[in-house]
Amino acid sequence: MVATTTSTSEGWSSRSAFILAAIGAAVGLGNIWRFPTLAGESGGGAFVIFYIACVFLLGLPLVLSEIFIGRVGQTDAVGSIRRVAAQSQSSQSWSIFGAIGALAAFLILSFYSVVAGWVLYYAGIMGADLVQAVMEGDPFRGALAGESQAQIQQRLGDMFANPGLLITMHFLFMGATLYIIARGVHSGIEKVATYLMPAFFVLLVGLVIYGSVEGDMGGAMSFLFTPDWSKLTPQVMNAALGQALFSLSLGVAGLITYGSYIKEGSGLGPTSAMIAIADTGVALLAGLMIFPIVLAVGLDPAAGPTLVFQTLPFAFQTMPAGALFGFLFFVLILVAAITSSISLLEVPTAYGIGERGWSRPKSALIFGGGAFLIGIACLLGYNVWADVRPLWFWPLFENTDILDTVDGFTGKVMLPVGALLTSLFIGWKADENLLRTTTGLSPWAFTLWRFLIAWLCPLAVAIILVTGLFPGIL
Ligand code: PFF
Repeated sequence: MVATTTSTSEGWSSRSAFILAAIGAAVGLGNIWRFPTLAGESGGGAFVIFYIACVFLLGLPLVLSEIFIGRVGQTDAVGSIRRVAAQSQSSQSWSIFGAIGALAAFLILSFYSVVAGWVLYYAGIMGADLVQAVMEGDPFRGALAGESQAQIQQRLGDMFANPGLLITMHFLFMGATLYIIARGVHSGIEKVATYLMPAFFVLLVGLVIYGSVEGDMGGAMSFLFTPDWSKLTPQVMNAALGQALFSLSLGVAGLITYGSYIKEGSGLGPTSAMIAIADTGVALLAGLMIFPIVLAVGLDPAAGPTLVFQTLPFAFQTMPAGALFGFLFFVLILVAAITSSISLLEVPTAYGIGERGWSRPKSALIFGGGAFLIGIACLLGYNVWADVRPLWFWPLFENTDILDTVDGFTGKVMLPVGALLTSLFIGWKADENLLRTTTGLSPWAFTLWRFLIAWLCPLAVAIILVTGLFPGIL
């Protein structure tokens, strides 16, 4: 049965259900696809260390702030901010960052589903190859036996050139996301998180062990953790800060929305810390899963966004049981993607329920359907609309295709603006007593949080925003 209750009456059935769902939201393509790609392109160790500092000094205070707003507000992001503002004698117009967040989540969902569609297709390719390997009586052979490296790489180009295929994959992934969200917090999001997150961790650990046995773990460790500080340029720092926000799902009101389904109890500090630690742990493990395999076969760890789609399938070809582990690898990314995409759809859906009075299925359908259509435009940018530059008049985006424009605009503009307003609101406007009692932080932790959120976060996020928008000034 589809749940039709409004967001205000829905809730998590336990604290661990919330934590799993929030970790599911945070852990996604950002951890497994974007983090290793960035670390690879940015030269490894120095980037990783700076990234970890960003997560704990900037990300964690913001995670706590968003959960706090939701916990107090008990409704969609816009309504929740309004309630906190009312209880703090602040202006209701602060709720604008809830609306910006919902719009950003909606836009991110559109291209997130397209990329997840690619993963779905690759899971299909590797799954079919595994079935073939089993039928040939050689289930432990390498992946895509008999295909040359050029042929494997060509698969990506062939996929991009086929709009029908891309739309089908995007449709399947968005359909699954929509179905889960239409079912509601309890029987949709929570159920998926409680089944899929443990499966995700088992798969991840299994693949890291596989990488350490079959791959070059020593090389991967030194690549990921040996800092070469000369590589830490302002651009790299900027990328690390942006990635920390994206990976923790900050600035899009996702944790405000999930936090609003917490019905009782405080202890928000340890909960937030668990989310930040788990998300960062998964990003590092993803690096320790991917680089041993890439390095073992002498491939380039700085291959960029195609690392996962072109480099790894070839690496799995040369490794024992590569057909099996290659398939599991894409299943792992798919699981991570769906637990994140549902959180992206939940933000605007909750907004439709709370602010427009729509039923849950109607709201999910409107926003999921809208994101599906924008996603189609994004994927057509890889073939029939390859020449379209949506923001051609803006020097920053003048050479950027449709998907990268939506990605760049949300990541460089909307997300930092959302995070900046969140930190200013919590740091300077929210009622101190309300903050203290709701979060349940100890006095020293509270003081530290207040300092970070009032001073360090706004400053650092403003820097990401300005340097992101005017790359020339770096
Ligand atoms: N944190 C997700 C990832 O790392 O893939 C991306 C994301 C999910 C961003 C949900 C924002 C969000 F609300």
